[in-house]
Amino acid sequence: MAQLKFNDDGRFSVMLLGDPHQHGETDTQHKRDVMADTSALINAALDKLKPDLGIYMGDNALSNTPEMFAKAVEVLLKPFEDRGIPVALVFGNHDHDNEGSIPLAEQVKYYRQYSQCLFAEKPAESGYWDYNLTVKSSDGKRDAFNFWLMDSGNHAPAEYNSNYAFVTTEQLEWYTEKCKALSEKNGAPVPAINLQHIPVPEETLFMKKVSPLIKFGYGIEGLNAHKGGWYLLDRKNTDVIGEIGEFPCCCDYNNGQFDCWKKNGDVIAAFFGHDHLNDQLGTVDGIALGQCRLVGFNPYGDGMRQAVRMIYLDENEPRKFRTSMHFYRQIVGNSCRSIPWKLKVINDKQSMALNRWKYIACALGGAVAVGAGASKIYKIAKK
Ligand SMILES: [Fe+2]
Ligand SMILES: [Fe+2]
Repeated sequence: MAQLKFNDDGRFSVMLLGDPHQHGETDTQHKRDVMADTSALINAALDKLKPDLGIYMGDNALSNTPEMFAKAVEVLLKPFEDRGIPVALVFGNHDHDNEGSIPLAEQVKYYRQYSQCLFAEKPAESGYWDYNLTVKSSDGKRDAFNFWLMDSGNHAPAEYNSNYAFVTTEQLEWYTEKCKALSEKNGAPVPAINLQHIPVPEETLFMKKVSPLIKFGYGIEGLNAHKGGWYLLDRKNTDVIGEIGEFPCCCDYNNGQFDCWKKNGDVIAAFFGHDHLNDQLGTVDGIALGQCRLVGFNPYGDGMRQAVRMIYLDENEPRKFRTSMHFYRQIVGNSCRSIPWKLKVINDKQSMALNRWKYIACALGGAVAVGAGASKIYKIAKK
């Protein structure tokens, strides 16, 4: 496996690619268009932004037959292979769902057929597909940075009353042991970024409850314990920036992963996939928590808002980073084929508002036609 290393100028850049949900099937025009649009974004983003590492944030290649799965993997990894850019992946809930057809260990083998793929060869001692990638200093003498790539599982057991899972205690023990060993080797905790699919519950701290009467057109409906309430990003009492189109889709139960980062002292930031419409970024107790939207055109999205997130590191200031979102519209243009024209001309907030007003119109009665039209504009699919 290639050893990552800061460049001679002390810089290192990472591209996060969220939720491609890439299928290998090409039997309909729409499937071919989805593949072409996702490929266009990945290839153009790599050419424009030239990262030193790419990371797929879960819900990656999803197909039921070996042939189709291999095709989906090719869409995701060949752009990196062609350019000689290393690429890593974490598993998402849909990768776990795909286990019935292609077990996770088999999925990893398909990814690892590409020489640039850094996915671990086997699971960690916890049994989960967790691994870490160190980045050497530019002189190659020390571990200057580290990435934790964690498998956040699939669904939470029923007793947790939340749809999606969390990183388990056994996984946190694995992380703590590994972190200690790295600290001892380097004389201090090695600054790190944690990457995983399902967000931690601390992301809900960026949300504030709003009156449905005032904010119905723009508010986000809560999930799990927050269900029934309407929320917006709390830009007044937190330092959160970015946009949100859905409530953080984490487990209500907090298994202490965030506290574990604080205790071990290495993690400066954590980024997540899973929430396709979100790119908010804020800090909690000095640790940045951020989303990266989605790169794939197969799941729902409101149009041209598919994007990648870049993270820029400097080995001289390894506890700081810069980050930026880069949207399909900016990178590729307005040529997307798989999205209806209506979705190309409206943005996230407008589409969310249309979705809300659809319900108001229905509630008022006599506006069924408006509702039917709006539902075509913003279609929410299951994750
Ligand atoms: Fe997803
Ligand atoms: Fe997901």
